Amino acid sequence: MDEPLASGANRTAGWAFTCRHGCEALLAGELLRLGVPRTHRVLTDGVPIEGLVWADLDLQPGAVTLRRFDPVYALQVLPAAIELRAPSIAGLADAAWRHLAPMLKETDGPWRLHALVPGQLKGTPKPRLRRRADLLADAILERCRTVARLRARAWLAPPTDLGDRARLDVLAQVLLLEPERMLVSVAPVWHGVPQAAWPARWPAGLFPVADDPVAPASSFRKLWEALAALGEAPTAGATCVDLGAAPGGWTRVLRVCGANVVAVDRAPLTGAVARDPQVRQVIGDAFRFRPATPVDWVVSDVIAFPERVAELVEVWCGQRLARRAVLQMKFRGAPDWAALDGALAAARGHGWTARAKHLFNDKNEVTLLLADPAAPVSAPAAGPGDEP
Ligand SMILES: C[S@@+](CC[C@H](N)C(=O)[O-])C[C@H]1O[C@@H](n2cnc3c(N)ncnc32)[C@H](O)[C@@H]1O
Repeated sequence: MDEPLASGANRTAGWAFTCRHGCEALLAGELLRLGVPRTHRVLTDGVPIEGLVWADLDLQPGAVTLRRFDPVYALQVLPAAIELRAPSIAGLADAAWRHLAPMLKETDGPWRLHALVPGQLKGTPKPRLRRRADLLADAILERCRTVARLRARAWLAPPTDLGDRARLDVLAQVLLLEPERMLVSVAPVWHGVPQAAWPARWPAGLFPVADDPVAPASSFRKLWEALAALGEAPTAGATCVDLGAAPGGWTRVLRVCGANVVAVDRAPLTGAVARDPQVRQVIGDAFRFRPATPVDWVVSDVIAFPERVAELVEVWCGQRLARRAVLQMKFRGAPDWAALDGALAAARGHGWTARAKHLFNDKNEVTLLLADPAAPVSAPAAGPGDEP
């Protein structure tokens, strides 16, 4: 990344992207490959904000641009953002409202306002400026109500669980960088992959995964997050195959959804899922396993070379052995873009919609979110989401 922006004057519009902290250079590199001329870190008090990358993009957000700028390493996008300053909450709200009003007044459809703070991007439970950002959001919504009566028309409360499928036409976002300085963005939402949304429907792109003391591994968080990013979860009674299932964190998630699970691994499951009658364990090679009849979902957290994920895509998508797939691709060192592009292309070649994301709980791996559009979308299952 080149020189950081000074934190002084208002900058011209650009696009801000959030990512898992520590992945800023990966995200910046990806943005450059996607055609962004320059990227920067955003500074507060001379220090770069973690989990935030600024892209010099002079483009209006629409279906084409949002689809193009949906980087794997971005958790959220603030398209056509502008930096604004004011010495008070009322002043910030007035400035934000002036920027948001034209698009919000134009839309008849549902919209949301996300008020973000830098610490939130790192998952900090009680981040600095949270209270002030909430007051700012209230002040902006007050202007929407009194000036344009927008709230009564189509304002949506924040989503509370995975079952949130409410259509979202426009997302307004305010990122309070400092007490008197903010980024403001408003954009239409692109609904690309079935049920998924970009910008993401969760504030900062983070699905608030609740703790689960029964899960035998903390990796359960990755699957909840993946289901939130996909915008769909297995329903009660759905049939699922969990490849590389041991010790059972993902199997536990599928059981919480009420699904029946075939758990395939060379090692046995542990804990309560191992004794669950709705879980059938298959001890063996995940790459050789085939279900007797097609299932609703296949998920895979197998540790294997990246190119082996394309093999899974060929089998499960090519032969339509499942309707939805969540497949982890794990890297040694740098991301293997060729393997990732190959796996996504293979899925698309079989008529599936395919998207990859580096989720907040992912380590050196990315999550492939695959859906067969020919297979009907199931009714939502409520996940263990907490209000952020
Ligand atoms: C990261 S762990 C999976 C964790 C699991 N998703 C959870 O939440 O508990 C990877 C698993 O893949 C399994 N594995 C690796 N290669 C495999 C293969 N070829 N066939 C079956 N299991 C495999 C390992 O035994 C290991 O249990």
